[in-house]
Amino acid sequence: MPGLKGPSDYSQEPPRHPSLKINAKQPFNAEPPRSALIASYVTPVDFFYKRNHGPIPVVDDIERYSVLIRGLIDNPRELFMRDIKMLPKYNVTATLQCAGNRRTAMSKVKTVKGVGWDVSAIGNGVWGGAKLADVLELVGISKLTSTTKSGGKHVEFVSIDKCKEENGGPYKASIPLSRATNPDADVVIAYEMNGEPLNRDHGYPLRVVVPGVIGARSVKWLDCINIIAEESQGFFMQKDYKMFPPSVNWDNIDWSTSRPQMDFPVQSAICSLEDVTAIKPGKVKVSGYAASGGGRGIDRVDVSVDGGKTWVEASRYQKPGAKYISDDMNSDKWAWVLFDVTVDAPQSTEIVVKAVDSAANIQPENVQEIWNLRGILNTSWHRVQVRVGHSNM
Ligand code: MTE
Repeated sequence: MPGLKGPSDYSQEPPRHPSLKINAKQPFNAEPPRSALIASYVTPVDFFYKRNHGPIPVVDDIERYSVLIRGLIDNPRELFMRDIKMLPKYNVTATLQCAGNRRTAMSKVKTVKGVGWDVSAIGNGVWGGAKLADVLELVGISKLTSTTKSGGKHVEFVSIDKCKEENGGPYKASIPLSRATNPDADVVIAYEMNGEPLNRDHGYPLRVVVPGVIGARSVKWLDCINIIAEESQGFFMQKDYKMFPPSVNWDNIDWSTSRPQMDFPVQSAICSLEDVTAIKPGKVKVSGYAASGGGRGIDRVDVSVDGGKTWVEASRYQKPGAKYISDDMNSDKWAWVLFDVTVDAPQSTEIVVKAVDSAANIQPENVQEIWNLRGILNTSWHRVQVRVGHSNM
């Protein structure tokens, strides 16, 4: 809709917290310091990683802003903010994680293509908005539908921002209609983050949040929704965010041999220590996060102070005051757990963490076996070095 959505250029980007580590300026990509992630269960907006493939759009006329739903349906419809806000509001606590989280460590094995990230391309937000399943009912698609009468099987989200990978076209991604119409999948069209209206960085006025799935499918700055027969043919579905074995390189890659990545695998990282931290001999607190995709809880977090020979179990928690039980009704199924344990480190050593999810999936020991040319899904054991010294600390 020309004129409605303002120009996209880098001179109009919003102010951000000075402690963010900027991994790329244009498009803007930044992550918080490790320590900010473990300061609270819900990640403050300022410290939530920002992952963009183009300039941040400006939507200045909210009255005229709308989302068009069209495609393989009988009744296409233009929905305004007031239509979305009239639907029941849900607050879904969900961890968003970029598939490129921990890419920098993967690229140390062998170069990979993509923005480098430490362990903080992840955050836990409370996303307020309408369920996509309710929104789709407004255009005549019932709950728990996997195919529309006219053959629609996927829901494509098209954004306002423009990306060079799309040759100047909009960012887009899709999810299966069966997930979109399942109220238990908790896919939301969010207008709030942590109880505040979404800000520009995170998708104002409306973004999709697909819990348990790599962040790339949670399209920001929503412009329209297409009901389509096949998965979105967008670059980020077909030529990116796919997992390949280490043997695939830029000369022999056949993108069609792998499906667009959806659920993210079990992951954990230590956030109380940097890659190399100098400490005094004695007790050291090891804390961080663990998360798994697909709504699977975290059954165990193991920490080792001898590089992985022996392990101790860390305690896990989510909401303060409530016991965390993996996959329990009262635990946030789409959210990370934070963990901590105090261990003895009498001498310099490698401290390691690995998590186990409720399907007993476990993180791989080494990054070499999961190396892939785009550097996605580095879920190998997270390792930090502590240098124990006796003076001047
Ligand atoms: N949506 C649009 N329109 N443009 C983007 O560049 N990046 C995706 C996703 N949605 C992106 C997008 C990626 S790769 C991730 S990981 C998440 O947004 C990041 O969301 P955040 O910046 O709110 O943390």
